[in-house]
Amino acid sequence: MSKSTAIAHANIALVKYWGKRDHNLNLPAVGSISVTLDGLHSKTTVELAPEASADQFILNGREANEKQAARTSAFIDKIRRMSGSDKRVRVISDNNFPTGAGLASSASGFAALTLAATRAFNLRLAADLLSGLAREGSGSAARSIFGGYVEMEIGTESDGRDAVAKPLFPSEHWPLRLLILITSEAEKKIGSTEGMNLTARTSPYYDTWIHSSLEDLQNMRDAIAARDFQQMGEIAEFSCLKMHGLAMSANPGLIYWNEVTIELIHAVRNLRSQGIPAYFTIDAGPQVKVICQPEDVAVIREKLSQMDGVINILESGLGPKAYIIGEND
Ligand code: DP6
Repeated sequence: MSKSTAIAHANIALVKYWGKRDHNLNLPAVGSISVTLDGLHSKTTVELAPEASADQFILNGREANEKQAARTSAFIDKIRRMSGSDKRVRVISDNNFPTGAGLASSASGFAALTLAATRAFNLRLAADLLSGLAREGSGSAARSIFGGYVEMEIGTESDGRDAVAKPLFPSEHWPLRLLILITSEAEKKIGSTEGMNLTARTSPYYDTWIHSSLEDLQNMRDAIAARDFQQMGEIAEFSCLKMHGLAMSANPGLIYWNEVTIELIHAVRNLRSQGIPAYFTIDAGPQVKVICQPEDVAVIREKLSQMDGVINILESGLGPKAYIIGEND
């Protein structure tokens, strides 16, 4: 193939990844468990451009900035080396979720890029190899290769060969829903990579975070297997708050929340005290993701949409693995 288009969905971690055990191969220091979302995806076309002298990247209708282009080109270099080709590429990638929604798109973006680019260079990789390669682009992208409930393994090999994600359960096992409450459209000042590196270097709590994650992973696997909503939600909030507490204990402390984020944390806990089951999780930004069951979506949405500072609410169920939608020579 010389041109290939892939779709990969975003994911949200229920047990968080924060910290690396190897920077070059981007190996995580902790495992993580996520759900892949059907409502948010990246669609990426990679076309070989034999006559071009440089790669070209169009992200959400615009020429990529220098930082994005350098990161993407370095990633394509890995695929060029694997395929023994030095051809340049033209990449067009679009997210179906609002640009500037303050949502990280590196997971769906790198997963779609990995699948489309390997196929454009005529490589057909098994899913675990695709996941390992996507991880080199962005740790969370390794999980977006798979659908449903997914676990990222830290692995033990120094070459990273077993630091890959694997599917735990398909979406149908337990069709949870997510509400994504947008509280700011500003770009975050400190991205995940930089934030986790600062945390590992400076937080006195870092080692405890690493050790305590094993129990969270086991408890989360059990909760998902048993479809125990309360246990799943309690561990998700625990892992989320622990990750943010850890980030705050870096020096200088990292605070990804704004005042609306905090209001929403309390609002979700208030819903529970009124008997409405809902739990929150938050990534390296101010948006709040509410995990709920299908029958409660309408009431939760209604209550939270009335809060000051909620700019937009996106809704999603659980989604499929990354897949190819078109190819030609
Ligand atoms: C808070 O996958 O964006 O969303 O591997 O450096 O690209 P890099 O980091 P990234 O980090 C995601 C961090 C998180 C938690 C999670 O998704 O597990």
